[in-house]
Amino acid sequence: MKPAAIRRPELVILSALLEAEPGVVSGAHLARELGMSRVAVWQHMEKLREQGFTFESLHSKGYRITGRPAGLNLALLEACRHTGKTANGAATACAIHLLDEVDSTNDEAARRLSAGKPAPFVVMAHRQTKGRGRFGRVWHSETSGNLYCSFAFRPQVDPARMQSFTLWMGVSICEFIAHFCRTSPATAPGIKWPNDILFDGRKAGGILTEARMDADQIRDLVLGLGLNLRPPAGGWPAELADRAVALSEQTGHPVEVNRFAAALVERVLHAWDLFISGRYKPAFQSLWQEHDLLRGQHVAVLQGKQRIAGTAAGVDEEGCLLLTLADGGTARFRAGEVTLEKKKRGK
Ligand code: BTN
Repeated sequence: MKPAAIRRPELVILSALLEAEPGVVSGAHLARELGMSRVAVWQHMEKLREQGFTFESLHSKGYRITGRPAGLNLALLEACRHTGKTANGAATACAIHLLDEVDSTNDEAARRLSAGKPAPFVVMAHRQTKGRGRFGRVWHSETSGNLYCSFAFRPQVDPARMQSFTLWMGVSICEFIAHFCRTSPATAPGIKWPNDILFDGRKAGGILTEARMDADQIRDLVLGLGLNLRPPAGGWPAELADRAVALSEQTGHPVEVNRFAAALVERVLHAWDLFISGRYKPAFQSLWQEHDLLRGQHVAVLQGKQRIAGTAAGVDEEGCLLLTLADGGTARFRAGEVTLEKKKRGK
């Protein structure tokens, strides 16, 4: 479970080769940058080769990157952050831990927060053995190929401020996906309040926010995100075929997972800065309107055994779902599960 550490030389070499791609970087240049011999540079490149990178060596010119690992790779992810090939260019100080397998990235992030690790940080895993969603549902994540990650924060804020947190992060992530995948307004992802990320009514991802309290303040906060990047090898099981979708299916091409993850981290950290400083508010309502999949839909909210039906009318400033009821009144929900209602004939 111990994550592999990335060493600076490998990061410097990879960043230089990625920046020059498809061009060449001379061994002498790398040796100078790193203050080491060309043989030592070559040895570090061997370490990268062991991870699945391939390089072409051009006589008296230098090296060119020709292949990279298909899945998440910490060196590549960090190099993508480092080279500014991310959403906003700047890589914010934040450790990323990539694990091969873990019970749940949310649990691992919580354990590390409890152990006093400096926050913010991110935990990602190739596989989860106990991935979970809202209401303790299983989040299938036993096989690699999708994104399972948790962002850990220590906010020390009043819990009342947390209501809109998941929603703000959700629309920020939708906007990020739309931008990264260059979707059109018609094909952009949307949010089904409060935490589902959907394309055309099919679920592509979900968010699970969990917090630990200190008297009257939030001490530890974990934002977990699961995203389908590609469909399962044998296709979706029949029961999910019309309910689940992967980003690659929506965009028609594979997602460059390391570039995607690096840019996502920057975007989430930026959204966090806006949230914690309160500067997110002006953008929140407009982004919510842009990505809200429920507005104008006839829905029912389930709260325990209670079921309240109405027409979704957006969210208030705090992120509570608003329903216009049959009698014209408005109901407001902090929590609950929303289902889309089929309209009865003639109504
Ligand atoms: C949902 O749709 O109910 C939320 C699903 C959240 C799944 C992610 S995967 C990474 C993180 N670790 C978990 O165990 N859950 C979240």
